[in-house]
Amino acid sequence: RILILDFGSQYTQLIARRVREAGVYCELHPWDMAPAAIRQFAPSGIILSGGPQSVHEAETPRADPVVFELGVPVLGICYGMQTMAAQLGGVVAAASEREYGYAQVRARGHSRLLRDIEDHTSAEGYGLLDVWMSHADRVETLPAGFSAIAQTDNAPFAGIADETRGFYGLQFHPEVTHTRQGKRILERFCHDICGCGNLWTPSNIIDDAIAQIRARVGGDQVLLGLSGGVDSSVVAALLHRAIGDQLTCVFVDNGLLRLGEGDQVMATFARHMGVRVIRVDAEKRFLDRLAGVEDPEQKRKRIGNTFIDVFDEEAAKLKQGASGVKWLAQGTIYPDVIESAGASTGKAKVIKSHHNVGGLPEHMTLKLVEPLRELFKDEVRKLGIELGLPAEMVHRHPFPGPGLGVRILGEVHKAYADTLRLADHIFIEELHRADLYDKVSQAFAVFLPVRSVGVVGDNRQYAHVIALRAVETIDFMTARWAHLPYDFLDQVCRRIVNEIPGVSRVVYDITGKPPGTIEWE
Ligand code: XMP
Repeated sequence: RILILDFGSQYTQLIARRVREAGVYCELHPWDMAPAAIRQFAPSGIILSGGPQSVHEAETPRADPVVFELGVPVLGICYGMQTMAAQLGGVVAAASEREYGYAQVRARGHSRLLRDIEDHTSAEGYGLLDVWMSHADRVETLPAGFSAIAQTDNAPFAGIADETRGFYGLQFHPEVTHTRQGKRILERFCHDICGCGNLWTPSNIIDDAIAQIRARVGGDQVLLGLSGGVDSSVVAALLHRAIGDQLTCVFVDNGLLRLGEGDQVMATFARHMGVRVIRVDAEKRFLDRLAGVEDPEQKRKRIGNTFIDVFDEEAAKLKQGASGVKWLAQGTIYPDVIESAGASTGKAKVIKSHHNVGGLPEHMTLKLVEPLRELFKDEVRKLGIELGLPAEMVHRHPFPGPGLGVRILGEVHKAYADTLRLADHIFIEELHRADLYDKVSQAFAVFLPVRSVGVVGDNRQYAHVIALRAVETIDFMTARWAHLPYDFLDQVCRRIVNEIPGVSRVVYDITGKPPGTIEWE
């Protein structure tokens, strides 16, 4: 396994994803992870990430010396390489020219890290790599034992190596896809240099997870809040395989779900897979709690709290039952874990208070089981497929916990939710039909409680407006609006206005994030 120490680069999560894609288990920890914990982790290799700071300034982060004393290979990327060089006796200074974006690196053929990896060959016989650079500092003098393995015009040491100790540094970012050979370079480091096998595969992950779940929960009963989203669905399938009917799921229909969603969840899990699912119809309760509330954050809080109340009641019934539930399962995934670690150090700002649908009060005194805690979203999806979940379910766009509650602007009414459900359904159906669904990251309709004039036949109509939103994004932190074909938008608009009474106009949202957010509230 590989340990990644995070010096604050925006790309650190990508490093972890690339290592996992290479079939190697890795964990991401802050750069100041305690030395004892580093030893205990017993890594086969360590990667030092990039970071925003300058090594030549005082009091910027340094790797703990233990990193270089464990006798395992180390790969420093960007800031990680600079701090490694400086800590081992080299010199780092501000570069006269900054390099951002595309660059071509000349690689020398003898290093274990880059040997035979190239995009082109230069006239002099050097390997040339197309890479992504983002740095203002550069290594000026190498530490003892190191030699240059790659260079650019601006950086004589764009890649460095001490082959004896297995220490490598790259000024460029192998983890981003713009570095075309990045994947191979990271695979080379993990497989050949650190000696890690290609063992982190979906079926191994499942076998492992099942063994761990069984060992943890034994013969106890487990409760899971099933939302129909990818994460909780995969947890349900995994737990069902691990412990069969020791699992009970609670599915809360809050009246803010997509068209037919409740029936779909019941069909997939209860009927098809034989999972015990308790469906709670709580539409009225949720809508009552939302009556008269317009503020988005208030709406989120009320929906979250009502969910907890309903879930709590169901759990209490089950706890008091003959077999007594002792465990609560949650679909927490690795980015949630990393994000909340970031939040606790005050690094992340709360723009919207996202609630995890499973987030439950402590007084429930159930022990937690979170079998996806170490997995990225793409890994969760692969597991879902391997576990036999329908592909449409596994590849669904994300759907926020508060559901249509934050897609009906202002006060929520049942009639608005019914209208929105139909519009959303048409939009999604047409996206599938035009083979565009998988080309956008998230698409949905929004209900605007303003009215606009239209004509239907010979009659004047004064009715509500539907906005369509579709975005392309990798991480949902930034997004661009999807440039959907005009003919396609035309078709969706016609169907919505013709088929849904009470909608007179359809608009398409062309705001990026930033400055907009993906959801309208
Ligand atoms: P924003 O609107 O913040 O959305 O750009 C980014 C992603 O997060 C989803 N989202 C939520 N998910 N509870 C959730 O579970 C929420 O309250 C919530 N608000 C936004 C949104 O759908 C998008 O994928």
